[in-house]
Amino acid sequence: MDRSISSCVAMAWHDDANLVVRQHRLLMIVGAPGCGKSWYAKRQAQQATGRPAVVLRGTPKTDLVHVWGGRVIGDNMQTGFADGPLARSLKSEDWLVVEELNLIPLETRGYLLDLRGEDSITNPITGEVIHISPNWRLIATANSDSVACHRHSGVAAALIDDFIVIDVADLSPSLLKEMLVDNFPTASMKLIRETIEAWSSFREVGETSDAGGDAPSKLNFRSASHYLKLRLAGMTPTKATRYALVNKHIIDADRHTAALVKAGLS
Ligand SMILES: Nc1ncnc2c1ncn2[C@@H]1O[C@H](COP(=O)(O)OP(=O)(O)OP(=O)(O)O)[C@@H](O)[C@H]1O
Ligand SMILES: [Mg+2]
Repeated sequence: MDRSISSCVAMAWHDDANLVVRQHRLLMIVGAPGCGKSWYAKRQAQQATGRPAVVLRGTPKTDLVHVWGGRVIGDNMQTGFADGPLARSLKSEDWLVVEELNLIPLETRGYLLDLRGEDSITNPITGEVIHISPNWRLIATANSDSVACHRHSGVAAALIDDFIVIDVADLSPSLLKEMLVDNFPTASMKLIRETIEAWSSFREVGETSDAGGDAPSKLNFRSASHYLKLRLAGMTPTKATRYALVNKHIIDADRHTAALVKAGLS
């Protein structure tokens, strides 16, 4: 097991998610980027089955072949069928982690509806009927900023309807501290404190209550870990602030300018 799976900071919602997966087949975790959705899903799958999760990364181009599998030509030039992630995980009873389920087109998701409580599902490409073990689980992740899709049709709602949905709160400085200690065991407390202070002051910059506009982007654990990584490598605080914190706001010109001004870098 790699370190990323074996070590773990307990988060407030983990116990609830553990309870859900003990009782129910379909769990969805919704939260901001970097809040620990994938980390939890993979770790929980590994702990429950003793084997890594099968992972399907959802995109707007995910089609039936990505989910169920496709025809392949073997060494002997014979054609065969290679199961995709869903079929493989159902057969092996390894848990399936579907990243960004909400990005998968509705026509692909429509073939997943039998996952809602049925004890078998048909591979729409081969017609094979696959048993769904009572031990099998699907943990889906979705980013809170992209989950609210205005094109939600009946299919999307019907599938989501049988997921238990856990929403993950924003990162607090105290949780950030625990995560930094866990991820950087060699860093001094002085450097960890410096990182939290720098991260906190650039976490949000500029206008935050922009009525009708996009929700303000917030720096997450990854930005803090980038800052600490650069500092551990010997970079000055000013440069690390610029590259790991200030420039994370670069996709919004106004916020980026505000962050540069705040850092005295404009
Ligand atoms: N429970 C935890 N304990 C320690 N570190 C964690 C924990 N959860 C997450 N992390 C750290 O935070 C990083 C980001 O977590 P993760 O990849 O799960 O975020 P995510 O919510 O899936 O983000 P995205 O939406 O961008 O995919 C991980 O790579 C890991 O370093
Ligand atoms: Mg993720």
